[in-house]
Amino acid sequence: MENLRVLQPNKYNVYLGNNITYKLLERFTFDKVLVIADDNLAEIDINNILAAFPNSYLYKVKANEANKSLEEYTKIIDKLTSLSFGKCDYILGFGGGCILDLAGYVASTYKRGIKFISVPTSMLAMVDASVGGKVAINYNGIKNLIGTIYTPEMVIVDPYYLHSLPLRHLNNGLMEAYKMGLTLDAKIIDAIHEKNYLEVINLALLAKINIVNQDPYDNNLRHVLNFAHTIAHAIELEGSILHGEAVAACFKYFILDKDLKNTVIKDLANYIDIKELESFIKNNKNIILENIKNDKKVVNSNNYYINEIFLNKINDYTFKDIQISDYEVLLNE
Ligand code: GLY
Repeated sequence: MENLRVLQPNKYNVYLGNNITYKLLERFTFDKVLVIADDNLAEIDINNILAAFPNSYLYKVKANEANKSLEEYTKIIDKLTSLSFGKCDYILGFGGGCILDLAGYVASTYKRGIKFISVPTSMLAMVDASVGGKVAINYNGIKNLIGTIYTPEMVIVDPYYLHSLPLRHLNNGLMEAYKMGLTLDAKIIDAIHEKNYLEVINLALLAKINIVNQDPYDNNLRHVLNFAHTIAHAIELEGSILHGEAVAACFKYFILDKDLKNTVIKDLANYIDIKELESFIKNNKNIILENIKNDKKVVNSNNYYINEIFLNKINDYTFKDIQISDYEVLLNE
């Protein structure tokens, strides 16, 4: 089992290994724990988590962006209140990025913060969402508009849970890791090609933790993790395209080296339906540009600029402030 340490803004351990979850949970003495679980997970996996604690309660959520909502948030707060959860009790988020965002946001705000354990079950959440403390819900059609940065007690990354993940969702997560391969550590792309998923997760977590430790509050360096994300978030709002798919379809707008761009576009076809994604973007250009104006990263709403990341070549990036009109030029490529 690997133990990768996050040091900023507060220390916590990120454990990585197959079948490590129950051993780690046994170390904790819980009074009460509310398990907020993705309702798509195998019944046996949910029951085994609940059985690990004497006083556990279950709240199941359908994992989608629509349920990262104020409505779902208040339902969980009502449940915690009715069960008299106190500040020393725990919330355990058990699912993909949507579930961890919602569960973490509840944990960070209920009674000004109760203890939180994150157990990601999707590739996307294992390589990204589970680490770095960002938790949020959506509001008024704006992704992650209401959120905080909150430190969990620990993160348990157990690739055993990938057993129930459909291939499309596995590839979706791999695309987020691919992003870290392009920007931070090219070995991640090699591991993706080799289908060495434990190594993909290990290297992606190391790369992300290194960035988070230097810029935990997302003021400057951490922006690199948003590579290709601005247009991608605007796309995600418009259909059933998954986060990693949208991000990967947008790599090309931000890769400056032509050879690298062509190699990457060719490679992506092994994981996503790049042609269909491109035609979706082409047919929805205006609404995508409109959505970008509402992006929470907009620094100044008078001229709508966003600090973007451009890739000169592999693992060599630069930041540049760009405006809505620049996104229009990029989308017309
Ligand atoms: N997912 C981007 C970040 O954690 O900053």
